[in-house]
Amino acid sequence: MTRMPLIAGNWKMFKTVSEAVETAGTLARNLTGRDMEVQVMIAPPFTALSPVSRVLKDTPVALGAQNLFWEKEGAFTGEISGPMLVSAGCRFVIVGHSERRQYFGETDETVNKKLKSALEVALIPVLCIGETESQREAGETFSVLDKQLSDGLKGIKLKDPESWVVAYEPVWAIGTGKTATSAQAQEVHAFIRNWVTKAMGENVGGALRILYGGSVKPDNISELMAMPDVDGALVGGASLDPDIFLEIIRYSRQT
Ligand code: 13P
Repeated sequence: MTRMPLIAGNWKMFKTVSEAVETAGTLARNLTGRDMEVQVMIAPPFTALSPVSRVLKDTPVALGAQNLFWEKEGAFTGEISGPMLVSAGCRFVIVGHSERRQYFGETDETVNKKLKSALEVALIPVLCIGETESQREAGETFSVLDKQLSDGLKGIKLKDPESWVVAYEPVWAIGTGKTATSAQAQEVHAFIRNWVTKAMGENVGGALRILYGGSVKPDNISELMAMPDVDGALVGGASLDPDIFLEIIRYSRQT
């Protein structure tokens, strides 16, 4: 089964509007024909979505948001809805990032509502799951992932594998410089694909893109991408500099 690799940049809470516009412009201008073998997405902060979407118009770089609220509109001060993201030019939205679970009280139940609301407006959710260091050390990695998948996806039966993406982001590898080894990533990615195949069928499991996230850099992307179930990366810190992100995009296809 061939799956188009996806290299996604999660900019987190970095960049003013002008910095975001400049970075996105540099990235889009420097992509070459061969880079088209890889799909590229960036997720700037909310304030920069609309201006960055204008910069990305007619380029192959897709726009994503880092979060959404599950209601379409209403008295929910400070929140942003799926239809608003679509109107700002987004095709993707990151859901359930571990930083949102850790600092903003997101649970598998809220992740579930967010996934449903994203799918309703045809935004492609990037569902983030992953274990903490203590959970890994306690041998709980697969039970944690199983719960995140079954509660996060409760009531959701997807038929189109291209309508969503999963990102495995071990919490202990995020922003720490500690990457999972390619073997550790492969083991978990295979578990996730198997889980999805059992729940939603071979068509969905086989074609679903599963990204790895956590200290991805130009010097470790090739090894990760060489694994059969690693279909791309969700890159944090190293996506902020367009030259480094471009290197990651290039090395991701050298396998
Ligand atoms: P780093 O690449 O900075 O470790 O962040 C990973 C991440 O959280 C992407 O969503």
